Amino acid sequence: MDVFETIITRRSIRKYKKQSISQEIVQKLLLAACQAPSAGNQQPWHFVILDDRKILNVIHTFHPSAKMLTEADKAILVCGDLNLEKIKGYWMIDCAAATENILLAAHSLGLGACWLGLYPREGRVAGMRKLLHLPSNIIPFALVSLGYPAEVKPKEDRFNQSRIHLNKW
Ligand SMILES: Cc1cc2nc3c(=O)[nH]c(=O)nc-3n(C[C@H](O)[C@H](O)[C@H](O)COP(=O)(O)O)c2cc1C
Repeated sequence: MDVFETIITRRSIRKYKKQSISQEIVQKLLLAACQAPSAGNQQPWHFVILDDRKILNVIHTFHPSAKMLTEADKAILVCGDLNLEKIKGYWMIDCAAATENILLAAHSLGLGACWLGLYPREGRVAGMRKLLHLPSNIIPFALVSLGYPAEVKPKEDRFNQSRIHLNKW
């Protein structure tokens, strides 16, 4: 699948088969995440791989739309590290770029994935922080649930000409 096809056909997949994802595939997702652009190339991120069933099964107790994690083979937690931020105010934007890279890489490798927002929802951030004993400089930004897809979603055409402007508003 070329990159344009990957972007155009990616959808949030929330149902997964009971099939495990190899370490090699996880490594590719992490490579994709780390290649994301970031402000001043500051790369203010960390990634926590979650494959412990006990952890995956408890997240929905503090995250209202994370029930799919109970079926997911794995998840990747994308975190911002305030100590690595050189250009203030950009860490979450950098983490968003890394998260999108994981989603696109997952789709291109035949996986299903979904972005689960954490930051800036205080309850979700506090829940993840407590569950994983994160240090205070580490902000849990987003989770990406991962598994081999057990649902097929058609591509959606979201092109909207009214949002496109030429030289002036
Ligand atoms: C910042 C952000 C937070 C999101 N949080 C959740 C979430 O908590 N739970 C969920 O099921 N989907 C979540 N999504 C996925 C969106 O619902 C989904 O991307 C959107 O409906 C468009 O559908 P698509 O991904 O299939 O194109 C989130 C997406 C983004 C970008």
